[in-house]
Amino acid sequence: MKIAVLAGDGIGSEITAQALRVLDVLVRDGLHAEIEHGLVGGAAVDAAGDPLPEATERLCAGADAILFGAVGGPQYDGLPRAQRPEQGLLRLRKRFDLFANLRPALVYDELAHASPLKHELVLGLDLLIVRELTSDIYFGQPRGIRINEAGEREGFDTMRYTEGEIRRIAHSAFQAARKRSARVTSIDKSNVLETTQLWKDVVTEVGREYPDVTLVHMLVDNAAMQLVRNPRQFDVILAGNMFGDILSDEASMLTGSIGLLPSASLNAEGFGMYEPIHGSAPDIAGQDLANPLATILSLAMMLRYSLDQEAAAIRVEQAVRLVLARGFRTGDIAQAGESTVGCRAMGDAVVAALGD
Ligand code: IPM
Ligand code: MG
Repeated sequence: MKIAVLAGDGIGSEITAQALRVLDVLVRDGLHAEIEHGLVGGAAVDAAGDPLPEATERLCAGADAILFGAVGGPQYDGLPRAQRPEQGLLRLRKRFDLFANLRPALVYDELAHASPLKHELVLGLDLLIVRELTSDIYFGQPRGIRINEAGEREGFDTMRYTEGEIRRIAHSAFQAARKRSARVTSIDKSNVLETTQLWKDVVTEVGREYPDVTLVHMLVDNAAMQLVRNPRQFDVILAGNMFGDILSDEASMLTGSIGLLPSASLNAEGFGMYEPIHGSAPDIAGQDLANPLATILSLAMMLRYSLDQEAAAIRVEQAVRLVLARGFRTGDIAQAGESTVGCRAMGDAVVAALGD
C-alpha cells in the first residue's frame, strides 16, 4: 500500500506528523504501507508556483490513498484565484473524481460538556454528512467578475447539477444509511432554486430503490436551525457541495470542536483522500497547539475505506476514545480549569493508547 502524504500549510505538517506516528505503530505490527510526501497548497505555490504541481498529481495517481493536512494562509489571499492554495485541494477532488465526501460527527461522552450546546442535546449524537464534492456552484461555469452594461462590477457563479451527479451521491448516502440507523435527510432549497428542485426529485427516485431507508427532505435554512435545535433527529445528512460545506462546519461544533472531525473523499473505485475538515489555522501554526485527532481519525477512515483494514481502523478509533477518557485535552477541547497538552503530546498519548 502506498500512501501519498500532502501536509500542506499552517498546522498541516504538525497534524499529519502525528497521524504518521500512529501509522508507524501499525506498520510495526505488520501493516504493509509505505508513504511518500508531496507538496500542495501554499507550500507548493512557494516551491513551484502551482498549488498542485504535476509531480504531486503523479504521486497521487500512483498511490492507493492520500492523507491530506490543510491548505491556505493569509499570505496567499492576494494571489490570482488559480494560484490560491485552496485550488490545490479543489483540483485534487476533481482530478480523482472524489465525489463522495463522508463527514461523521460523533459526540464522545467525555466531551459532551465541551459543546456550546446544552450537553443533554448532544449526548450520544452520531451523524454522518454525505456531501457531494465535485460539482455544484463550486465548479459550475460560467463564473467570474465582470463589468455589466451599467458599468458596474458584477460577480456571478453557476449552481449546476446533472441528474447523474445527484444519483451517484444519493446512492452513497442510502448505502451508508443502511449500515447506520437507516434515515436520510436530503438538503435542498427547492422553494427557490431550480437546481435543488432537480436534486430533490432525483433523490426521491433513488430513494425508491431503498424502501428500508426513511427519506426526509429538508430546506437548508431549516436544517441549519434543526442542527442546533435537535441534532439527534439526524442520521445521514445528504447535501450538495455548497450546503454540505456550510452544514458540516456547523455540525462539527456540536461535537465540541472542529478539531475532532475527520473526512473521507471517495471516488467510484474506492480511491480516497482523507483529511480533517478543519483548515490550516495559521494563527496557531508552528506552536504545537493544534489538535491532531481529526487527522488521526482521518487515518482510521483511510484504513477502513481504502486499505480494507477494519480492525486497524477500530484500533485507532478506540485509542482516540481512550486518550479522551484519560483526560488528554488540546486547547480547543479543554474546559476552563482543565490542563492541556500540545499537538505532539496528544500524538504521544494516542501512540501509547494503541499499545493498551
Ligand atoms: C472544506 C473546506 C474547503 C471547501 C475549502 C478549503 C476550499 O472548507 O473542505 O470544507 O470549501 O470545500
Ligand atoms: Mg468547509
